[in-house]
Amino acid sequence: MLVLGIETSCDETGIALFDTERGLLSHALYSQVEMHSEYGGVVPELASRDHIRRVLPLIKQTLAAAKRDLQQINAIAYTQGPGLAGALLVGASIGAAMSFALKIPALGIHHLEGHLLSPLLSTPAPNFPFIALLVSGGHTQLMQVDAVGHYRLLGETVDDAAGEAFDKTAKLLELGYPGGAALSKLARRGRPGQFKLPRPMLNSGDLNFSFSGLKTAVLTLVSKQELTEQTRADIALAFQDAVVEVLTQKSLAALSQSGLTQLVVAGGVGANEQLRESLDYKAALKGAAVFYPELEFCTDNGAMIAFAGAMRLQAMPEKNWQPAGSFTVKARWGLEMLEKPEAN
Ligand code: KG4
Ligand code: ZN
Repeated sequence: MLVLGIETSCDETGIALFDTERGLLSHALYSQVEMHSEYGGVVPELASRDHIRRVLPLIKQTLAAAKRDLQQINAIAYTQGPGLAGALLVGASIGAAMSFALKIPALGIHHLEGHLLSPLLSTPAPNFPFIALLVSGGHTQLMQVDAVGHYRLLGETVDDAAGEAFDKTAKLLELGYPGGAALSKLARRGRPGQFKLPRPMLNSGDLNFSFSGLKTAVLTLVSKQELTEQTRADIALAFQDAVVEVLTQKSLAALSQSGLTQLVVAGGVGANEQLRESLDYKAALKGAAVFYPELEFCTDNGAMIAFAGAMRLQAMPEKNWQPAGSFTVKARWGLEMLEKPEAN
């Protein structure tokens, strides 16, 4: 079965073709990051307009790269939410129109389900059940994943997401937007122990997180220092140390509490090298294994949407594989509200 995936929830247009027998055949991504960086954040209206420009050429490119044509597609998976309403509408309307014209099923996929399942695209892949640490620009959650569509929220941020904290701190350090990757690059030149920042909620006794205080602590630090290149690097490292320590300890606590031995890391912050090193090291001490999506599938992409669509379709009764009659998008949509595929 050949599934076309369409991701347009934020500032990346991602398209992919996933074959349930052969795996990922091809994928293409267009990032609008340069266009938005001038404004210091994503401008929703510009994002929607750019998705409109990119999505059809990218679909053509993805089909050509896989040497497939439109008629060979068996189903469409598009990101239905959460995200920017206008941006989501582009993918949803094209997905639904193609489904209607080609008389094939269309599935609206939850963006975070895409991230949660993306490590299954790599080898070795984890087996269900596993713990997932979802760390993106909009979310920081620990989930127990028992099967496709069976997710239990164990803990989440009470304020800023980890990626958001990276981005805001990067801005304070004059690193542009989104600054997570730039901050972690700068941190490599930081001197350990020059500054010590708080570890918010490290000992809260639950699996929740809080990152907004950390950003404020950085703000205070920045206002007191002369921002030389070295100081910026030292602050970047101190910030990263704090985030990484909290994420690592809570993830390990989730493993201990659940008795599970596999941890999956998903979302953009999962690309962070220091986080990876720390999780690998601490998990190995406990006999647990950590799984990461390929770097290109850590941030937003079409492959995770095509893959999640394929997994859901396979779990659904075939009589329910219907072409789209209409479509909706869900700008706000909790993962815990997600329907189980066998209920569709
Ligand atoms: O998953 P994602 O592409 O978008 C959302 O759905 O939010 O994640 C983007 C986030 C941004 O906040 C970005 O700064 C952060 O991931 N990020 C990083 C790194 N690469 C991307 N944060 C820390 N270290 C990195 N290497
Ligand atoms: Zn994302």
